[in-house]
Amino acid sequence: MKNQLKKHIKILQELGYEYIYTERGMKKNNLQEKIKKLEEINRIIQECKKCDLYKSRLQAVLGEGNPDAKLMFIGEAPGGDEDKQGRPFVGRAGKLLTRLIEATGHKRDEFYITNICKCRPPGNRTPTPWEMESCFPYLREQIDIIQPKVLCLLGATAARAFLVRHVSITKERGSVVNWENHLLYLTYHPAYILRNQNEEITLFEDIKKAIELAYS
Ligand code: URA
Repeated sequence: MKNQLKKHIKILQELGYEYIYTERGMKKNNLQEKIKKLEEINRIIQECKKCDLYKSRLQAVLGEGNPDAKLMFIGEAPGGDEDKQGRPFVGRAGKLLTRLIEATGHKRDEFYITNICKCRPPGNRTPTPWEMESCFPYLREQIDIIQPKVLCLLGATAARAFLVRHVSITKERGSVVNWENHLLYLTYHPAYILRNQNEEITLFEDIKKAIELAYS
Protein backbone atom coordinates (compact mmCIF):
# COMPACT_ATOMS: atom_id res chain seq x y z
CA MET A 1 0.00 0.00 0.00
CA LYS A 2 2.82 2.37 1.01
CA ASN A 3 4.77 1.57 -2.17
CA GLN A 4 1.69 2.10 -4.30
CA LEU A 5 1.18 5.49 -2.65
CA LYS A 6 4.83 6.43 -3.22
CA LYS A 7 4.51 5.48 -6.91
CA HIS A 8 1.33 7.53 -7.20
CA ILE A 9 2.99 10.57 -5.59
CA LYS A 10 6.01 10.19 -7.93
CA ILE A 11 3.70 10.24 -10.97
CA LEU A 12 1.92 13.34 -9.69
CA GLN A 13 5.29 15.05 -9.09
CA GLU A 14 6.38 14.20 -12.62
CA LEU A 15 3.15 15.75 -13.83
CA GLY A 16 4.20 18.98 -12.08
CA TYR A 17 2.17 18.86 -8.85
CA GLU A 18 4.13 20.65 -6.12
CA TYR A 19 1.75 20.17 -3.19
CA ILE A 20 -0.22 17.04 -2.47
CA TYR A 21 -2.52 17.31 0.55
CA THR A 22 -3.59 14.14 2.27
CA GLU A 23 -7.04 14.17 3.85
CA ARG A 24 -5.49 14.10 7.33
CA GLY A 25 -3.26 17.04 6.47
CA MET A 26 -6.24 18.95 5.11
CA LYS A 27 -8.17 18.39 8.31
CA LYS A 28 -5.23 19.64 10.36
CA ASN A 29 -4.89 22.76 8.21
CA ASN A 30 -8.60 23.36 8.50
CA LEU A 31 -8.43 23.09 12.28
CA GLN A 32 -5.49 25.48 12.50
CA GLU A 33 -7.40 27.93 10.31
CA LYS A 34 -10.42 27.69 12.62
CA ILE A 35 -8.25 28.26 15.71
CA LYS A 36 -6.67 31.32 14.06
CA LYS A 37 -10.07 32.80 13.18
CA LEU A 38 -11.39 32.22 16.71
CA GLU A 39 -8.29 33.87 18.18
CA GLU A 40 -8.92 36.84 15.92
CA ILE A 41 -12.50 37.22 17.25
CA ASN A 42 -11.11 36.99 20.75
CA ARG A 43 -8.77 39.90 20.03
CA ILE A 44 -11.66 41.93 18.62
CA ILE A 45 -14.06 41.32 21.52
CA GLN A 46 -11.46 42.31 24.10
CA GLU A 47 -11.54 45.79 22.47
CA CYS A 48 -15.31 45.86 21.82
CA LYS A 49 -17.23 48.92 23.00
CA LYS A 50 -20.50 48.34 21.11
CA CYS A 51 -22.50 48.28 24.35
CA ASP A 52 -21.64 49.46 27.88
CA LEU A 53 -20.81 46.06 29.35
CA TYR A 54 -17.09 46.54 28.66
CA LYS A 55 -17.06 49.25 31.35
CA SER A 56 -17.78 46.92 34.25
CA ARG A 57 -16.40 43.53 33.17
CA LEU A 58 -12.83 42.33 33.80
CA GLN A 59 -12.48 40.60 30.44
CA ALA A 60 -14.63 39.41 27.55
CA VAL A 61 -15.17 35.62 27.48
CA LEU A 62 -15.18 34.24 23.94
CA GLY A 63 -15.84 30.55 24.59
CA GLU A 64 -13.83 27.35 24.62
CA GLY A 65 -13.74 23.82 23.37
CA ASN A 66 -13.42 21.87 20.16
CA PRO A 67 -13.23 24.19 17.10
CA ASP A 68 -14.63 21.28 15.07
CA ALA A 69 -17.48 20.49 17.47
CA LYS A 70 -20.73 19.06 16.17
CA LEU A 71 -22.52 20.52 19.17
CA MET A 72 -22.28 23.96 20.70
CA PHE A 73 -23.71 24.82 24.14
CA ILE A 74 -24.84 28.44 24.34
CA GLY A 75 -25.66 30.19 27.61
CA GLU A 76 -26.62 33.73 28.48
CA ALA A 77 -23.53 35.65 29.58
CA PRO A 78 -20.48 35.15 31.80
CA GLY A 79 -20.99 35.37 35.57
CA GLY A 80 -18.47 36.43 38.21
CA ASP A 81 -16.28 33.30 38.02
CA GLU A 82 -16.22 33.37 34.22
CA ASP A 83 -15.34 37.09 34.23
CA LYS A 84 -12.39 36.39 36.54
CA GLN A 85 -11.12 33.28 34.75
CA GLY A 86 -11.90 34.27 31.14
CA ARG A 87 -13.64 30.92 30.57
CA PRO A 88 -17.33 30.11 30.06
CA PHE A 89 -19.36 28.02 32.51
CA VAL A 90 -16.77 27.50 35.22
CA GLY A 91 -18.86 28.60 38.24
CA ARG A 92 -21.57 26.56 40.02
CA ALA A 93 -23.84 26.38 36.97
CA GLY A 94 -20.85 25.49 34.79
CA LYS A 95 -19.76 22.69 37.12
CA LEU A 96 -23.27 21.24 36.91
CA LEU A 97 -23.20 21.49 33.11
CA THR A 98 -19.81 19.73 33.01
CA ARG A 99 -21.03 16.99 35.38
CA LEU A 100 -24.14 16.34 33.28
CA ILE A 101 -22.13 16.24 30.03
CA GLU A 102 -19.75 13.75 31.62
CA ALA A 103 -22.67 11.67 32.94
CA THR A 104 -23.66 11.03 29.31
CA GLY A 105 -20.23 9.43 28.76
CA HIS A 106 -18.83 12.38 26.81
CA LYS A 107 -16.21 14.98 27.67
CA ARG A 108 -16.79 18.73 27.96
CA ASP A 109 -13.93 19.53 25.57
CA GLU A 110 -15.54 17.44 22.82
CA PHE A 111 -17.99 20.34 22.41
CA TYR A 112 -17.78 24.11 22.14
CA ILE A 113 -19.20 26.23 24.98
CA THR A 114 -20.04 29.90 24.71
CA ASN A 115 -22.62 32.57 25.51
CA ILE A 116 -24.91 35.04 23.74
CA CYS A 117 -23.13 37.96 25.45
CA LYS A 118 -19.39 37.82 25.85
CA CYS A 119 -19.23 40.29 28.76
CA ARG A 120 -20.60 39.93 32.27
CA PRO A 121 -23.65 42.11 32.98
CA PRO A 122 -23.24 43.94 36.32
CA GLY A 123 -24.62 41.89 39.22
CA ASN A 124 -25.30 39.03 36.78
CA ARG A 125 -28.51 40.66 35.57
CA THR A 126 -30.13 39.40 32.35
CA PRO A 127 -28.54 41.08 29.31
CA THR A 128 -30.73 43.72 27.68
CA PRO A 129 -32.07 43.17 24.12
CA TRP A 130 -29.56 45.79 22.87
CA GLU A 131 -26.63 44.03 24.59
CA MET A 132 -27.66 40.72 23.03
CA GLU A 133 -28.21 42.26 19.61
CA SER A 134 -24.81 44.00 19.69
CA CYS A 135 -23.00 40.82 20.66
CA PHE A 136 -24.87 38.38 18.40
CA PRO A 137 -22.63 38.95 15.31
CA TYR A 138 -19.65 37.54 17.29
CA LEU A 139 -21.61 34.39 18.06
CA ARG A 140 -22.68 34.15 14.43
CA GLU A 141 -19.00 34.30 13.42
CA GLN A 142 -18.16 31.54 15.89
CA ILE A 143 -20.97 29.39 14.46
CA ASP A 144 -19.80 30.06 10.89
CA ILE A 145 -16.26 29.02 11.77
CA ILE A 146 -17.07 25.94 13.86
CA GLN A 147 -20.09 24.79 11.80
CA PRO A 148 -21.77 22.73 14.53
CA LYS A 149 -24.78 20.70 13.53
CA VAL A 150 -26.64 21.41 16.77
CA LEU A 151 -26.82 24.53 18.93
CA CYS A 152 -28.02 23.58 22.42
CA LEU A 153 -29.57 26.74 23.87
CA LEU A 154 -29.37 26.86 27.65
CA GLY A 155 -32.30 28.82 29.04
CA ALA A 156 -34.94 31.20 27.79
CA THR A 157 -32.59 34.13 27.21
CA ALA A 158 -30.41 32.18 24.75
CA ALA A 159 -33.55 30.84 23.02
CA ARG A 160 -35.02 34.37 22.76
CA ALA A 161 -31.84 35.67 21.14
CA PHE A 162 -32.17 33.12 18.32
CA LEU A 163 -35.94 33.00 17.90
CA VAL A 164 -36.44 36.77 18.43
CA ARG A 165 -39.68 36.23 20.36
CA HIS A 166 -40.80 35.44 23.87
CA VAL A 167 -39.92 31.87 24.89
CA SER A 168 -41.40 29.93 27.79
CA ILE A 169 -38.63 27.43 28.41
CA THR A 170 -40.76 25.18 30.65
CA LYS A 171 -43.18 24.76 27.73
CA GLU A 172 -40.68 24.69 24.88
CA ARG A 173 -37.72 22.77 26.29
CA GLY A 174 -36.94 19.64 24.30
CA SER A 175 -38.04 21.19 21.03
CA VAL A 176 -35.85 21.20 17.94
CA VAL A 177 -36.02 24.17 15.59
CA ASN A 178 -34.38 24.66 12.18
CA TRP A 179 -32.22 27.76 12.18
CA GLU A 180 -30.26 28.59 9.06
CA ASN A 181 -28.17 25.44 8.45
CA HIS A 182 -28.26 24.33 12.07
CA LEU A 183 -30.64 22.71 14.53
CA LEU A 184 -31.53 24.54 17.73
CA TYR A 185 -32.18 22.33 20.75
CA LEU A 186 -33.93 24.21 23.56
CA THR A 187 -33.39 23.31 27.19
CA TYR A 188 -33.10 24.68 30.72
CA HIS A 189 -30.22 26.81 31.94
CA PRO A 190 -28.14 24.88 34.53
CA ALA A 191 -28.57 27.81 36.98
CA TYR A 192 -32.34 27.11 36.93
CA ILE A 193 -31.58 23.49 37.87
CA LEU A 194 -29.52 24.66 40.86
CA ARG A 195 -32.75 26.24 42.14
CA ASN A 196 -35.05 23.38 40.96
CA GLN A 197 -33.08 20.22 41.55
CA ASN A 198 -35.99 17.90 40.74
CA GLU A 199 -35.54 18.96 37.11
CA GLU A 200 -31.88 17.85 36.94
CA ILE A 201 -32.86 14.60 35.25
CA THR A 202 -34.73 16.58 32.56
CA LEU A 203 -31.65 18.66 31.77
CA PHE A 204 -29.54 15.49 31.71
CA GLU A 205 -31.96 13.80 29.26
CA ASP A 206 -32.01 16.94 27.10
CA ILE A 207 -28.21 17.11 26.95
CA LYS A 208 -28.15 13.42 26.01
CA LYS A 209 -30.68 14.02 23.22
CA ALA A 210 -28.81 17.09 21.92
CA ILE A 211 -25.61 14.99 21.74
CA GLU A 212 -27.43 12.13 19.96
CA LEU A 213 -28.88 14.61 17.47
CA ALA A 214 -25.45 16.13 16.84
CA TYR A 215 -23.88 12.74 16.11
CA SER A 216 -26.81 11.25 14.15
N1 URA B 1 -24.19 31.39 33.05
C1 URA B 1 -24.13 31.57 31.71
O1 URA B 1 -25.16 31.75 31.05
N2 URA B 1 -22.94 31.49 31.13
C2 URA B 1 -21.81 31.27 31.78
O2 URA B 1 -20.75 31.21 31.14
C3 URA B 1 -21.89 31.09 33.17
C4 URA B 1 -23.08 31.15 33.79
